[in-house]
Amino acid sequence: PADPLVIFTPSGRRGRVPVGTPVLQAARKLGVDLDSVCGGRGICSRCQIAPSFGEFSKHGVVSRPEALSEWNTVEQRYKDKRGLAEGRRLGCQATIQGDVVIDVPPESQVHRQIVRKRAEAREITLDPALRLHFVEVAEPDMHLPSGDLERLCTALEEQWGVSGATAGLPLLHRLQKALREGGWKVTAAVHTPAEGAPPRILEVWPGFRERPVWGAAIDLGSTTIACHLANLQTGEVGASGGVMNPQIRFGEDLMSRVSYSMMNPGGAEEMTAAVRRALAELLAGTAKEAGAEPADILETVIVCNPVMHHLVLGIDPVELGWAPFALATSDAVSCSAAELSLDIHPDAQVYLLPCIAGHVGADAAAVALSESPHTSDDLVLIVDVGTNAEIQLGDRNRVLACSSPTGPAFEGAQISSGQRAADGAVERVRIDPATKAPRFRVIGQEAWSDEAGFDASRITGICGSGIIEAIAEMRLAGIIDEDGVIGSPEQTGSGRCVADGRTWAWVLHDGTAEGGPLVSVTQNDVRAIQLAKAALTAGAQLLMDRMEVETLDRVVLAGAFGAHISPLHALVLGMIPDCAVDKVTSAGNAAGTGARIALLNRGARREIEQVVRRIEKIETAIEPRFQEHFVGAMAIPHKTAPYPELGR
Ligand code: FES
Repeated sequence: PADPLVIFTPSGRRGRVPVGTPVLQAARKLGVDLDSVCGGRGICSRCQIAPSFGEFSKHGVVSRPEALSEWNTVEQRYKDKRGLAEGRRLGCQATIQGDVVIDVPPESQVHRQIVRKRAEAREITLDPALRLHFVEVAEPDMHLPSGDLERLCTALEEQWGVSGATAGLPLLHRLQKALREGGWKVTAAVHTPAEGAPPRILEVWPGFRERPVWGAAIDLGSTTIACHLANLQTGEVGASGGVMNPQIRFGEDLMSRVSYSMMNPGGAEEMTAAVRRALAELLAGTAKEAGAEPADILETVIVCNPVMHHLVLGIDPVELGWAPFALATSDAVSCSAAELSLDIHPDAQVYLLPCIAGHVGADAAAVALSESPHTSDDLVLIVDVGTNAEIQLGDRNRVLACSSPTGPAFEGAQISSGQRAADGAVERVRIDPATKAPRFRVIGQEAWSDEAGFDASRITGICGSGIIEAIAEMRLAGIIDEDGVIGSPEQTGSGRCVADGRTWAWVLHDGTAEGGPLVSVTQNDVRAIQLAKAALTAGAQLLMDRMEVETLDRVVLAGAFGAHISPLHALVLGMIPDCAVDKVTSAGNAAGTGARIALLNRGARREIEQVVRRIEKIETAIEPRFQEHFVGAMAIPHKTAPYPELGR
């Protein structure tokens, strides 16, 4: 009789295998994605499968419980000790005895899709550079002399098909002890940066390693640093954290840090040390939150702008201070954690995405990876709002990029009551145009300020999205004019306009009368936001000029803070060129997402390395039209470009 027919779902792969074939082996033969770390020894349970029994007339198959072997002792022992969910079997132990339909659940697939919060965002398929392999290594034999490392490499080749693996000196320091402690069974962490690239053994642990290994995706911004720690075997984020960039004390924006380096001998080294220390602390803190040790972090991806890129790598950014803004390298950089003094696993591999050019860095490349303008059918403008805004415009035919110095105002800095988006910060503001009465909401409280249960004592300040809404609403309510000038109580009809030196300020929350602190918007605050938004729009308009387009199909607001901006208020303020309100969306921290994609999928690294070569870079600093657009964009919304969509 013919060999049994095996059908795997969800892949639909099918084929015949001899009676007695383990399911894991059948899966390999039929090209089905079924995971294994222990190599079929019944230890790791990565190979779990769920057989389906019944009649599958579509395939002409009757699958019965007898189609899989009885539980053997290894499988039974695993179930008794660790437990297996109802209906689950270990694919490496159960053998095929008859026609059968076998489901491979998502958590047993190596290249599983990682569930993301936003349905429309690109999916991440797990394909990390770092993989764990449990191996049994031959014991040394006086008659067949060979080193421990050579026998480990042979075992990796024979048992896992990993050929040509290499290792550095630090591993040799630990290898002999680990092999003997594990009774010649070890778990090896093997890093293969790309399909076909030479693999490198980063670590060996005695026996089977139960604890997960972690990877860090870091978005290193000029003002804030964010980190997501992901389990490299499941892709799940175990902990996230953020800190302020300590380099702020050397200069708030990038150019002032470059000049700090120019003016102070040893200044670049100081800034490098500061940011590396902050990274090490952030990594240690996030590891702790995930229940891991810093040494369990074996891979790190960093995205950042070119100045941060140079400073974290210990390269003097002085060349970025003047035209032609030459980068030390625009290619992706790979190095070890020890080289950056990161205090995680010393051999952990660090990957920095490529820079696009000049002032458009790896953070913009990460946004491109996450938002894929280069595959878009419609013309999309992507604005990554930060201290420096990275702007991309394009579609599948052509993508342009530039960076624009917006300053830290959007992040709450330089604003009188400003603060970072954190508990207590005002984030939503509405002003009744008739009565001019404001109402607002703060982070961490459900109730609006005019609702029962609102606790004014928990207000701490106003964050970027709050100040944007406040100023846009002030414009709509006639409290400021087109030029951004705050009027007097008589001019505006708002008793909340109070004298502030020679100008007027507008009180959003009067601490004395209403409890909690005073939160007001001063004339200087409005100016700071006007300058920031003018830089943003001018950059976008420069790209539109170059592309020779006058309208946009859609706009994506990105950045940790971009996610919280209300599209309507962004348009009222003139932060972005005119576009239909329902075509303006938020992408959250797209640079951080891009870092996570590159961390979990090594193919994505090759993809972005190709894509950045095609992105055309526009240098705002030397474009005369930039100044022109900038001046025009100071008004709210603005003078030179009409906003027909806003009228609708
Ligand atoms: Fe490890 Fe089956 S492959 S338990």
